[in-house]
Amino acid sequence: MAESPQAPRPPAERPRVLSLMQPTADSLHLGNYLGALQQWVALQADHEAFYGVCDLHALTIEVEPAERRRRSLGAAAQFIAAGVDPDEAPVFIQSHVPEHTELMWVLTTMTGFGQAARMTQFKDKAARTGTDGANVGLFTYPILMAADILLYQADKVPVGEDQRQHLELTRDLAQRFNSRFSPTFTVPEPHIVKSVGRIMDLQDPTVKMSKSASSPNGLIELLDDPKVNAKKFRSAVTDSGREISYDEENKPGIANLLSILSAFSGREIETLLDEFSGKGYGDLKVATADAVNAVIAPFRERTNELLGEKTELEDILARGADRARGVASRTLSKVYRKIGLLPPARR
Ligand code: TRP
Repeated sequence: MAESPQAPRPPAERPRVLSLMQPTADSLHLGNYLGALQQWVALQADHEAFYGVCDLHALTIEVEPAERRRRSLGAAAQFIAAGVDPDEAPVFIQSHVPEHTELMWVLTTMTGFGQAARMTQFKDKAARTGTDGANVGLFTYPILMAADILLYQADKVPVGEDQRQHLELTRDLAQRFNSRFSPTFTVPEPHIVKSVGRIMDLQDPTVKMSKSASSPNGLIELLDDPKVNAKKFRSAVTDSGREISYDEENKPGIANLLSILSAFSGREIETLLDEFSGKGYGDLKVATADAVNAVIAPFRERTNELLGEKTELEDILARGADRARGVASRTLSKVYRKIGLLPPARR
């Protein structure tokens, strides 16, 4: 009997997806939501997905310990509030799965110093602080990311455009290992969604919206008061014209608002252009703020609920780590065996 095309495939036959997000703040921002979480939720339906909070990567940034714990738990809560179903897709904390750092060490011994030194994200960060200001963790960061991915034999990795080079390194390491030993790792493909990949800063629409932006007014934090967010939209930088058209080059601010409104309202840019013909920038800003708030109000509520039931959330993460370890430990044992590490005798 042929299966209906909609029937979900059994887990083992579905392509595998893995992605991790750094807990860099209490609240995730609009770029995280559109660039990552929406993709994660969409992919979990027909993929075997694993989603994690990469607290080990976040150690490259100095943060108070209590703040760190709060951010990790908060990030996990926000994944679930955004629609990740932890029964479908294990949600886990990277440091709960020790295989990540174990595989990373093996991979560091297979990465050329020069290759690691060519990673542009590291170069940019080191250029800002000087090499004495940048820690070695920042240098090896992409190798830990490769370990994250290869442990799970991921077919697809949803990431932002800025992670493309790290994905290339990961693919390289997988291929190098496979040809030096024997086929062991799935060579992953990046899954980069162009249209939502670049949500820009509201104050400087030529740079990507991110936590490190120069002004907090350019950043929409999902857990912020809706009034604060509406105000940020109202004061978004546009340009001196008055006509609403989609032109990334000459009207990056308006293009960004249109992209955000389109993503949150589910309406095509073309449709929005018709709708807003003859209207002003102010109308577009109000409509965008309303559309965003309509989606994130229930998100905020659900996040707070989850954080209010801390024990249950911790149980979800413990189950997530168990399921993640089930896969990760199998890969790591294979790797240890193939490279010739002596297995401990079991008595
Ligand atoms: N470096 C990624 C980022 O900053 C986060 C990350 C860590 C990640 N490990 C990963 C993403 C594994 C995908 C897969 O966005």
